[in-house]
Amino acid sequence: KSYRVAILGATGAVGTELLELLESRNFPLADLKLLASERSAGKTLKFKGENLVIEAVSDRSFANVDIVLASAGGGTSKTWAGVAVDKGAVVIDNSSAFRMNPDVPLIVPEVNPQAAAEHKGIIANPNCTTILMTLAVWPLHQVKPVTRIVAATYQSASGAGAKAMEEVKIQSSAILQGQQPVAEVLPYPLAFNLFPHNSPMTDLGYCEEELKMVNETRKIFGSQDIRITATCVRVPVLRAHSEAINLEFDTPFSPDEARAILSNAPGVKLVEDWQKNYFPMPIEASGKDEVLVGRIRQDISHPCGLELWLCGDQIRKGAALNAIQIAELLVEKNLLQNG
Ligand code: A2P
Repeated sequence: KSYRVAILGATGAVGTELLELLESRNFPLADLKLLASERSAGKTLKFKGENLVIEAVSDRSFANVDIVLASAGGGTSKTWAGVAVDKGAVVIDNSSAFRMNPDVPLIVPEVNPQAAAEHKGIIANPNCTTILMTLAVWPLHQVKPVTRIVAATYQSASGAGAKAMEEVKIQSSAILQGQQPVAEVLPYPLAFNLFPHNSPMTDLGYCEEELKMVNETRKIFGSQDIRITATCVRVPVLRAHSEAINLEFDTPFSPDEARAILSNAPGVKLVEDWQKNYFPMPIEASGKDEVLVGRIRQDISHPCGLELWLCGDQIRKGAALNAIQIAELLVEKNLLQNG
């Protein structure tokens, strides 16, 4: 059996990765439609050696589509997801528009695949930093419940889209030539710099990105009582995010036990060479499916605390790969609207 898929936001950083993954994972496609804004209409993208023409999204785009992979921003998803569902498609949405909606499952396939069965047409792909963190924390949480998580993130430019990645390269080259960097996509120059995450600030003094880690992790884990706090920072890395994570349990969790669990955890690769001080790096996580985890150590400030460090490709597992895995799950469990 094969399926009719549309990518909404096909020209973006995540959209082009979705295209690559549909090809490399040999997703059973009957038809593939590339949708973006008017700006891209008529341009082409390569898929399996063929040039596919991009269409401007419209009312007519979603007839005869089984799965929509949406990655064109929250506003675009809000406009089109309902239209696509009414036409019989299941929408896997990469934006934050529907993530906290109680009728919308929020899924990391390695963590809560069972939630997919509850969908009513829309499934949300979690925030990238949340996906990466849950992959490392969930397997430990299964053995001993985590009571508190303190996370600090080091987030790449790719989270702000293809244009932000380009901007960092241009800024770097300007600085190397002795010129002033120009910031247009991101609020401040990122090359040779960093700044607290640029998502909107809330009354709590946390930016939205930080609250996504709190609220989405609780929803995915199905546990509202885990205490979570995060500080999110944008760093001049192109496409992989890093996270320093402090975990607290009710009883001590030995680093060796955590290591043994994580070396067998799905979607996780343990990367540690203590002699060489060699641990996960964004440059090595880029282009990989797995989240690289290492530096697992006892928190010397707390008898029941555990420290770890991870890096994961933000565009891949943090977005496009997770969405494709959700699509694969829907196919495997026969959960599409059209059967
Ligand atoms: P376009 O290239 O035509 O602007 P990124 O996350 O890398 O910034 O990519 C955003 C994606 O969302 C692009 O594919 C972009 O298409 C698409 N997009 C942005 N706004 C709209 C819109 N109003 N309607 C459809 N697609 C949109």
